[in-house]
Amino acid sequence: MKNGGLVAIPTETVYGLAGNALDERVVSRIFSAKKRPQFDPLIVHCSSIGQISHYATLENPQARLLAEKFWPGPMTLVLPKKDVVPYLVTSGMDTVAMRIPAHEMTLHLLRQLDFPLVAPSANPFGYVSPTTPDHVNDNLGDVVDYILDGGPCQLGIESTIILFDNKIPTVLRSGSLSVEKIQTIIGEINVVTHSSSNPSAPGMLKSHYAPGKKLVLGNIELLLGMPDYDRVGVLSFREKFEHPKIVSQIILSENGDLEEAATNLFSGLRSLDKMDINFILAETVPNHGLGRAINDRLKRGASDK
Ligand code: TXA
Ligand code: MG
Repeated sequence: MKNGGLVAIPTETVYGLAGNALDERVVSRIFSAKKRPQFDPLIVHCSSIGQISHYATLENPQARLLAEKFWPGPMTLVLPKKDVVPYLVTSGMDTVAMRIPAHEMTLHLLRQLDFPLVAPSANPFGYVSPTTPDHVNDNLGDVVDYILDGGPCQLGIESTIILFDNKIPTVLRSGSLSVEKIQTIIGEINVVTHSSSNPSAPGMLKSHYAPGKKLVLGNIELLLGMPDYDRVGVLSFREKFEHPKIVSQIILSENGDLEEAATNLFSGLRSLDKMDINFILAETVPNHGLGRAINDRLKRGASDK
């Protein structure tokens, strides 16, 4: 990394494709490796709040409260940026997304570097995020210099992104830290849903997290009854379905546990995507806690490219 290499790193959410955040050549290699448009800004990862304050201003009292409560953890704060952060990282904006990941191996790495790491999820732009080293190797094996093997990701869905711009804080991306938990610390908060062209959230494109196979979201029982769908993979929340059309089936959590469902979502989508099927039929989950983040990923994965 000191020589400008790209290394896939484990975090508690998903694997990231990491490199020196302060070196524009490295940052630009990351955009190309992911085939990511440069209007979609990156998250800067640090090991401590002290380090964060070199790159962003953490003055907003509510942002501070959240930082002290939830970092290291699955939360990204969008804060006013300092000059050392290249505009390439922020897509020309004066704000920068910052996060301290809760993964011992990656924290240990960050502490040994004298620069922070940009780390977008280690998947090609628009595809499902990786939650194991194998997922990274499948998609980006040729373009990363190393994959740091920290095992499967504990949470499995990306961090929750919160914007502070002097008004009421806004959740730009639902993620592994639930809105309810944030509210217990700072009270009222806005939640942005599903915007495809919101300039304050350039990465919130509608068709994101999309598997290669067509993902159809709805009532699985009804979808199975429709002639349009044959040779299907089913991704259900807790129920097992029986139907001759079903080639393969993944149940996210038999106990109906939303955290378990979140952990299994991306690996479930990826394994169905590899099957010899024509469609993936899936259903939304209860829309509270981590269910909000799961539904967001499912809806975006199912929207037409
Ligand atoms: O859990 C995570 O956040 C993972 C792990 C690796 O840390 N990272 C991740 O990065 O999901 P990425 O690049 O896939 O998603 C980052 C999102 C982008 O969609 C982008 O739009 C948003 O963060 N973002 C970054 N900087 C921003 C800014 N200044 N203002 C608004 N949104 C920003
Ligand atoms: Mg991503």
